[in-house]
Amino acid sequence: MRKKVIAANWKLYKTPKETRDFFLAFLPHVQGHTRDEIVVCPPFVDIFAAVVAVQASDIAIGIGAQDLYWRSEGAFTGEVSAPMLRGAGCTHVIIGHSERRQHFGETDDSVNAKLKSALLAGLVPIVCVGEVIEEREAGLTEEVLRRQCTRAFAEIAAEDARPITVAYEPVWAIGTGRTATPELAAEAHRVIRSEAAKAFGQTAAAQLRILYGGSVKPENAAALMAEEEIDGALVGGASLDPKSFAAIVKYQG
Ligand code: PGA
Repeated sequence: MRKKVIAANWKLYKTPKETRDFFLAFLPHVQGHTRDEIVVCPPFVDIFAAVVAVQASDIAIGIGAQDLYWRSEGAFTGEVSAPMLRGAGCTHVIIGHSERRQHFGETDDSVNAKLKSALLAGLVPIVCVGEVIEEREAGLTEEVLRRQCTRAFAEIAAEDARPITVAYEPVWAIGTGRTATPELAAEAHRVIRSEAAKAFGQTAAAQLRILYGGSVKPENAAALMAEEEIDGALVGGASLDPKSFAAIVKYQG
């Protein structure tokens, strides 16, 4: 049985003060909740506030960044590396989010380099894959997912792959209010799992957690999480409000 992961992706929202306020309101809602793993990925500048808030509680919540650079250090102005994130108290990092692919020149190869550096530093990577609407309509979803996974997983040994988590995020469902049906998401998850089996073997693939992301809300979380193939959620918009994110974490299974 794979433990589900409910992860918040705050994107470009919240200041350090708003981060502290979020945790003040959120933590009491999830006190004692051990069924699922909880992860919150704020902007870089809020990581410290998030780590301090969580450490002051006795609730296990992972804190993640939304991106990283694959070199550890050097003359790379504006970048943040995996060892720096570890040092700041991060446990997780999102890699290859479609918004980074769309707006910031992220490629399958940079995703691979980032994934390797995250693993080396001991971070749990949440690797995002997903098709755009034109690809789905042209019947290319499976091909796109297979390509994104093969390239992301390239040259990573099976014994190093264990921490990898994947998020299937159909781009047409992100921030649009359109959600993939649980069946459609499960179908995509099976494609991703079969690519993981090719890269890392059946046992590792069976343990791989694949989250769904794209307009997950308190109203649809239970139906999505009921799918055996769906091992959790990566939540954008609905994770900004403590009550709404807590309601997703505590979906009624
Ligand atoms: P959304 O974003 O929940 O606002 O659709 C999900 C994501 O981009 O990770």
